[in-house]
Amino acid sequence: MSDTNKNLRHYSPIDLLMMQVDNGLRTMFGKPLVTERPDPQDNVTTEVKQELAATEKTFSARLMRINHAGEVAAQGLYQGQALTAKLPDVRDKMQRAAAEENDHLAWCERRIKELGSHTSYFNPVWYFGSISIGALAGIAGDKWSLGFVAETERQVVKHLNEHLSTISENDIESRAVLEQMKIDEGRHATVALEAGATELPVVVKSLMALTSKVMTKTAFWF
Ligand SMILES: [Fe+2]
Ligand SMILES: [Fe+2]
Repeated sequence: MSDTNKNLRHYSPIDLLMMQVDNGLRTMFGKPLVTERPDPQDNVTTEVKQELAATEKTFSARLMRINHAGEVAAQGLYQGQALTAKLPDVRDKMQRAAAEENDHLAWCERRIKELGSHTSYFNPVWYFGSISIGALAGIAGDKWSLGFVAETERQVVKHLNEHLSTISENDIESRAVLEQMKIDEGRHATVALEAGATELPVVVKSLMALTSKVMTKTAFWF
């Protein structure tokens, strides 16, 4: 167990709340606290980088904006979950996954800027929407909030596969980010399942897919 995890057990509810507020502000407006992992874009050497056509750039930027918006929502979800988790053990287990979502957030934002575009104007909406859902699921119980995380991660992997099949083969940097995110999200789903996630009812899963559709359609343009 890391030192951070050991310390987390001793935080009061107010401390935890302040940490979430700090994390929320960083997610929407500042610099997220990333892990020690390198940005996959840095592994792309200049020899393999490709010049992108204007249309390829625009399309990539739109997809990366969707992914960034998804990561903003993931932050809200994990923070809502952490705020309401009944067992400190559950919160600890999910902490590393939440930190890796910050990596995704930073990687996507950097790529969007390099492609000459902007993050979603609706980020605060995605954030507050998902922190509320995460907290509500947490109030229902750890197994439900973990189930929510596991299902979200599964749906994100599906999205990433779709993006990888539509984004230009020439956009090596965006693809490197998406490939690493896909590996991470799959692992996050496993972590949630191992921490005690329960399978969500089909109606909830469908509602989640519908909400995600609204977010992806909006973030593609704005
Ligand atoms: Fe993520
Ligand atoms: Fe994840």
